[in-house]
Amino acid sequence: MMNLDPNLPAKSSDSVRIVHVGDVVGKPGMAIVCSMIELLRKQSCDLIIVNAENAAEGAGLTAKQYEQLVSAGVDAITLGDHIYKKREIQEILSTRKNIVKPANFPSKAPGKTYCVVETQAGIPVAVISLLGRVFMRPVNCPFEAVEQVLEKIPTEVRIRCIDLHAEATSDKQAMGYFLDGRVSSVLGTHTHVTTADEQILPNGTAFQCDIGMTGAYRSILGREIQPVLKTTLTFDPNTFHVATEDVRLAATWVDVDPLTGLAKAIGRLQWKSAGD
Ligand SMILES: [Fe+2]
Ligand SMILES: [Fe+2]
Repeated sequence: MMNLDPNLPAKSSDSVRIVHVGDVVGKPGMAIVCSMIELLRKQSCDLIIVNAENAAEGAGLTAKQYEQLVSAGVDAITLGDHIYKKREIQEILSTRKNIVKPANFPSKAPGKTYCVVETQAGIPVAVISLLGRVFMRPVNCPFEAVEQVLEKIPTEVRIRCIDLHAEATSDKQAMGYFLDGRVSSVLGTHTHVTTADEQILPNGTAFQCDIGMTGAYRSILGREIQPVLKTTLTFDPNTFHVATEDVRLAATWVDVDPLTGLAKAIGRLQWKSAGD
């Protein structure tokens, strides 16, 4: 059931509300995320992290789109397997302080393994991206990689958010329990389908297998249905254009205790543009 009510639960004054927006697909996804930032801020959202790996016509992120997201008020950006589809993003990944590559990519791959951004109140938040290894391009071990990154983050940065970009739910659950009590959240991206398993794990880490997609829901993973179906049925290659109907924003919010870095509450939301 879609949460068309834009009201999130009241947030306690001593917690930090972090919103993670799931894979933004194409222009429709970009438009809805940029238009909803203000509403998110009104719902006491202190920090907004966006997975933008599909922003550029469904694959990659352009430099212009990066600037659009930042000027709309997005605090940090993660990507995924489509990270370098627009080569121009490599320079931004190397030079800007609010965008990361998957930490288990090769060390020579452009980008940082984590970034630290701040809420408007000045509370630091570390953002880490990891790629799964099941049904995906071979990458370094995400479990070893995240251990190394966590050691590098200054201890005073208590809030630590993981975007786990992976296919298999078992992979994601394994990472959730591996990091339980050591990070604020482990939230999945990549499948473009929201899962209904949001929870706080026993030691205080917020977890969800997948946040879901920000884009057109009358689609196959954000692309027009007929070309994908045709190629699936005939193996005849087609261009998969980004779909445009039934555009929704999918996000998950996590309220975190800034003293411990552990999660106090989690919830998912799905918003449509007014008039859709
Ligand atoms: Fe994606
Ligand atoms: Fe992906």
